[in-house]
Amino acid sequence: MPSKAALSSVLLVALGAAVVNKAFDFIIVGGGAAGLALAARLSEDSSRTVAVIEAGDDGQAVMERILVPALTYLQGVAVPGASHDWGYWTNSLGRWLHQPRAKILGGSTAVNALYMVRASSVEHDSWASLLPNADQDWSWNGFYPYMLKTENFTAPADASLTGTTVNETAHGRSGPVHVSYPQYTYPSAALWTPTMANLGLKTSDPQGGEGWGGYITPTTINPDDGTRSYAKTAYLDPTKDRSNLIVLLNSQATKITFDTSGSVPRASGVDFAQQSGGRTYHVEAKSEVIISAGVFGTPQLLQLSGIGPKALLDSFSINTIADLPGVGHHFQDHVLVPLSWSLVNRTVSGDLLVQNATFAAEQLALFHQGQLSQSLMSAPNNGIGYVSLKRLFDNDTYTAQFVQELRANMTSVVNNQGYTDDTLKAGYELTYSSEVDTLANTEVGAIELLLSSFGSWNQVNTTINMQAALQHPFSRGSVMINSTDPFVNPVITANYLNTDSDWEILRAGVKYLRKVASTQPLASLIQEELAPGPAVQTDKQIDDWMYLNAGTQYHPASTSSMLPLDKGGVVDPSLKVYKTQGLRIVDGSVIPIGLCAHLMGPTYAIAEKAADIIKANPTPNRTPNISGAASVRPSVPMLSSLLALVASVIVFSL
Ligand SMILES: Cc1cc2nc3c(=O)[nH]c(=O)nc-3n(C[C@H](O)[C@H](O)[C@H](O)COP(=O)(O)OP(=O)(O)OC[C@H]3O[C@@H](n4cnc5c(N)ncnc54)[C@H](O)[C@@H]3O)c2cc1C
Ligand SMILES: *[C@@H]1O[C@H](CO)[C@@H](O)[C@H](O)[C@H]1NC(C)=O
Ligand SMILES: *[C@@H]1O[C@H](CO)[C@@H](O)[C@H](O)[C@H]1NC(C)=O
Ligand SMILES: *[C@@H]1O[C@H](CO)[C@@H](O)[C@H](O)[C@H]1NC(C)=O
Ligand SMILES: *[C@@H]1O[C@H](CO)[C@@H](O)[C@H](O)[C@H]1NC(C)=O
Ligand SMILES: *[C@@H]1O[C@H](CO)[C@@H](O)[C@H](O)[C@H]1NC(C)=O
Ligand SMILES: *[C@@H]1O[C@H](CO)[C@@H](O)[C@H](O)[C@H]1NC(C)=O
Ligand SMILES: *[C@@H]1O[C@H](CO)[C@@H](O)[C@H](O)[C@H]1NC(C)=O
Ligand SMILES: *[C@@H]1O[C@H](CO)[C@@H](O)[C@H](O)[C@H]1NC(C)=O
Ligand SMILES: *[C@@H]1O[C@H](CO)[C@@H](O)[C@H](O)[C@H]1NC(C)=O
Repeated sequence: MPSKAALSSVLLVALGAAVVNKAFDFIIVGGGAAGLALAARLSEDSSRTVAVIEAGDDGQAVMERILVPALTYLQGVAVPGASHDWGYWTNSLGRWLHQPRAKILGGSTAVNALYMVRASSVEHDSWASLLPNADQDWSWNGFYPYMLKTENFTAPADASLTGTTVNETAHGRSGPVHVSYPQYTYPSAALWTPTMANLGLKTSDPQGGEGWGGYITPTTINPDDGTRSYAKTAYLDPTKDRSNLIVLLNSQATKITFDTSGSVPRASGVDFAQQSGGRTYHVEAKSEVIISAGVFGTPQLLQLSGIGPKALLDSFSINTIADLPGVGHHFQDHVLVPLSWSLVNRTVSGDLLVQNATFAAEQLALFHQGQLSQSLMSAPNNGIGYVSLKRLFDNDTYTAQFVQELRANMTSVVNNQGYTDDTLKAGYELTYSSEVDTLANTEVGAIELLLSSFGSWNQVNTTINMQAALQHPFSRGSVMINSTDPFVNPVITANYLNTDSDWEILRAGVKYLRKVASTQPLASLIQEELAPGPAVQTDKQIDDWMYLNAGTQYHPASTSSMLPLDKGGVVDPSLKVYKTQGLRIVDGSVIPIGLCAHLMGPTYAIAEKAADIIKANPTPNRTPNISGAASVRPSVPMLSSLLALVASVIVFSL
């Protein structure tokens, strides 16, 4: 069989007239949440050419598992060993923990749990306050319009079923991403909002800036057919007639190249390869290279390209283009721990889909027939709650004392991190204090509560899970290359629960969940606690159990933080990488602090905002050097393709 490259060359000859390109105005690395949103917006200007380089394929082979909401929970696409998973692992809490990230067009939005959540105005204002004299406004007021721009919101058909309220002014209705509510409602989900209300939590629509309370969250579902709306369907597919946008699939960027002839290194293009040890190709950038490779891929690519902590680069004999100590540092993640309960009388839960294949097949058929309100396959998990520190501890004296200790412990916590670089220390102190302020004085959640219909405890009864997840962790980790081979994953040091305060807050979250389970009306469905179970009571017992059961909520962030350079920052408020020209980062890795949210929503909005920043002030074009560059052109659309792609195959006519 001819190789893909050879085959493509043949195609090129056959279609000699097709567009051939070796240089683009913008090259975007990574076709995920941020990358595709940015590509769609930048290519609105037909005079500017845009290429997206994506390591994964178009996902066609797993499309049903992408599109049907419940299949995400039953047959995940980014699971260990799967070809659409990057295979990232971290050694933390005494175990190897999987860090799912999708290697697929659409990135992690193709595989995620569909929650569309916004953080609070307090948190965005706190983000902005880290950036004195910023030329861009990252406060709530500067960010909120882009959250609206992302979405096309549809209110629930019957909000009274779940007690959902809608703040009409807090939603966009002309954006590309469908945001709505599933048409099927589990019995436990129907009781969630009233239970939250009985605990004293706010249940009104949280998306206008007051993100706390307990409610049914909107999800990225197309209300017309119940399918997932994600970066590919929402942002990319509608651009399929644009000849100025090209997406290269199965192509992993291995290096950003620089022109170092001037005083500041200028990004000149991107090297990429289709497999480890495979041939390396190059495309040239006229204006900018924009990295949207996500929280692990972005710092890895920067380090491989000579942008990062000099000592690290030296240890791998990588020529330093820019010594930026912050690249890969400041990692933080929401740590989660799941508890489970059995339900009375085999109350319907997602377990039925797990336990009974015949039933699952029937439910899938109903979904495909459009009987969405009859099918469990329509419904992702969607009951959540954000609980403040003072509500968790339920003792104002104790809360005040805890906050005081948090402040007093900062120096030792920061020193414990072992940073040898003063700017990293200063950045940790800055974000640590800002997060203490956020938690101390507001209703912003220290813990998120999540209701899951997929407990799967045993075959006898049906169950639910409820999870507690730390939202403003004080622990920090890192992402560092361990090889000069781009196909060897970086080392992820998560440092989960590395501070006393993180342990204590998460433990309080576990206790709070037990309170939820015993609060009506949800309590009426619950038979007994299965995990951790009644034997686990003391703080020590809870901690031991958390150590064995905690893991990621899939919200890693901050590995290329937007912070001042003297605070270990990697990008400035215009998302430009410090000490370089023509290079930006646009993805979840720039978020500098914990946000009480799931990170897809904020990441889409970062990309929307970035597009306006770049359109208003693009880096002036350079003259590309195309003599060694590969030619790239759109492919023939695949016959079987549900969604004709813009372009999918690279043609190498070297
Ligand atoms: C299992 C799971 C569940 C989640 N659930 C939710 C949820 O319910 N709600 C929510 O809001 N968030 C959720 N998230 C998080 C959310 O999906 C991410 O925060 C968001 O997708 C991040 O966007 P991004 O653009 O930074 O990265 P991604 O969307 O991951 O995109 C990065 C892209 O870059 C590509 N790439 C990486 N390196 C290279 C390279 N060197 N060359 C070429 N391409 C490269 C990747 O293949 C990928 O396509 C979940 C995540 C996971 C993994
Ligand atoms: C928003 O979604 C609804 C439901 O699918 C659709 O009818 C409407 O056309 C969409 N609006 C836009 C601007 O795309
Ligand atoms: C509704 O949203 C607007 C912003 O669009 C916000 O100002 C207002 O406070 C919100 N109302 C409530 C009750 O949250
Ligand atoms: C399962 O359900 C049966 C019958 O309701 C009950 O007796 C039993 O305790 C339940 N088992 C578990 C593990 O919940
Ligand atoms: C469970 O089933 C029993 C027996 O049919 C019934 O008496 C009881 O009311 C049911 N409980 C709930 C919460 O539905
Ligand atoms: C499995 O589902 C089928 C179809 O709904 C149903 O007929 C059967 O009784 C179920 N089996 C069990 C063990 O519940
Ligand atoms: C509240 O916290 C204080 C300080 O830790 C403690 O002394 C007191 O006993 C607590 N009150 C209650 C009711 O638990
Ligand atoms: C502060 O540090 C002390 C000593 O290490 C520890 O016992 C305590 O739990 C810490 N408290 C907080 C809130 O960080
Ligand atoms: C880093 O690379 C070395 C040498 O290949 C290997 O022995 C080590 O296990 C790697 N470390 C991690 C954490 O993967
Ligand atoms: C252009 O690229 C070719 C191939 O990589 C290289 O040999 C040449 O030196 C470059 N020219 C300039 C002016 O940089």
